[in-house]
Amino acid sequence: MDHARVAISTDVERARISRHLYGHFAEHLGRCIYGGFWVGEDSDLPHIDGIRADVVEALRRLEVPNLRWPGGCFADEYHWRDGIGPREDRPAMVNSHWGDVVEDNSFGTHEFMRLCELLGAAPYVNGNLGSGTVREMSEWLEYLTRADDSPMARLRRDNGRDEPWLVPFWGLGNEAWGCGGSMRPQAYADEARRYATFCKDHGGNTVSRIAAGGADDDLSWTRALMEAVACVNCQTSPDSPIFQGVSFHYYTYASQGINTESATEFSTTDYLRTMLRATGIERAIRAHVAVMDSYDPDGKVALVCDEWGTWWQPEPGTNPGFLHQQNTMRDALVAGVHFDAFHAHARRLRMANIAQTVNVLQAMLLTGDDGALVLTPTYHVFEMSKGHQDATSVESAVTAAPVIDVEGTPLGALSASASVKDGALLVSLSHLDPDDSLDVVLDVRGATITGTTARVLASGSLTAHNTAAEPHVVAPRELDVNVDGALVRVTMPPHSFATVHVTLDRD
Ligand code: AHR
Repeated sequence: MDHARVAISTDVERARISRHLYGHFAEHLGRCIYGGFWVGEDSDLPHIDGIRADVVEALRRLEVPNLRWPGGCFADEYHWRDGIGPREDRPAMVNSHWGDVVEDNSFGTHEFMRLCELLGAAPYVNGNLGSGTVREMSEWLEYLTRADDSPMARLRRDNGRDEPWLVPFWGLGNEAWGCGGSMRPQAYADEARRYATFCKDHGGNTVSRIAAGGADDDLSWTRALMEAVACVNCQTSPDSPIFQGVSFHYYTYASQGINTESATEFSTTDYLRTMLRATGIERAIRAHVAVMDSYDPDGKVALVCDEWGTWWQPEPGTNPGFLHQQNTMRDALVAGVHFDAFHAHARRLRMANIAQTVNVLQAMLLTGDDGALVLTPTYHVFEMSKGHQDATSVESAVTAAPVIDVEGTPLGALSASASVKDGALLVSLSHLDPDDSLDVVLDVRGATITGTTARVLASGSLTAHNTAAEPHVVAPRELDVNVDGALVRVTMPPHSFATVHVTLDRD
């Protein structure tokens, strides 16, 4: 058996881990909205105002902090006025990005806000900058958040909602370099400034405007956007930024690129390449943070990773435009190492959104039209990790662990992070070795241990996954913990994710 050691200083605090790092993303794409969240008010399946009740219940267990909608690429062709008023009167449109299907707009603004209410999630609405207008975006925010008898507030009331909603997060388009308008960084930065100017705070609503940035470690977008915040004679500065967040997207695959590799049939080498790509997000975040620090050393503008996750080939037999993929233990570990990177950079990185919540890409839930509901391995990582939300990340270092040689590139076999909240320490451990077990010792400093519990997510094979017929193949179970003074010892099976909960006496 291999051995590893993690030193954790419970009294060396780094940054608050915003709960919004555990955010979600629901696009009008394939069966995410239609058939995933929304079954309609006439459905035979149990629902609340047309929203699947079992989906809501399962997601409430994750304490979803925010939900991004309606896209993605769809956001830049969505016109919000088509999705309000009586459903039978709503005009249809073509969802050109995702399957070229007809969208009937039966799920629109009111349905989305109801979904957020049911989940207890903050809405993150992504406006249309690519094919919309400044007026359209400005009026959508007015419609949602204004209390008086302004024209848009009146229209909202005509559609049955008296009180305004709170909308704390607002996207200024999406992937402007591609589906969002094929723009160049400078041009988009100016557009984002213009749109942000007209996205007002109404009444008691304060909105964080999030500019759409680049992909992976493409820093040209981050640079252009930070320059647009800091520019001289622009009546804006990092002290009162014109947008409050800059986003980037980071998708994971093995080696061939997104949408090219099987979700369930892969070799150990594919798995290890996937882990290299997944752990690479830490370097990408570090690079974006370095650029942002140089313009905004006080950290006024947030870095937001509003799309992340694995992107495999669609499941055979499904519409290729619907991006419906299975989810294995490999995906669970991708999530585990992402959260470690997010915690490490929690000072600047304040929101992240997994793509996507139901039935699309690295989903939490897979649903069947017959009422089946499958919790994926990724769901379990989110559930096991939720204690990190709004906790304080503390110094943790893997001081000893095996290193795996992946075709000449080293991959640490253990990834870890730790946080404290309410007198307890929560440690996440992702053990990446595909074959060997790992004896892990946590050296807990700065407090006295008063109790421990642990859970592990493990599977007999890397490709293990849950299906409607076999829903519990990958599910968490209790893990034995031994405590010896300040040392906490657990044994992790090959390719497994664990959380260790330690109650502390810090006097
Ligand atoms: O999440 C699927 C798509 O990936 C989104 O619509 C787009 O923003 C990204 O390219």
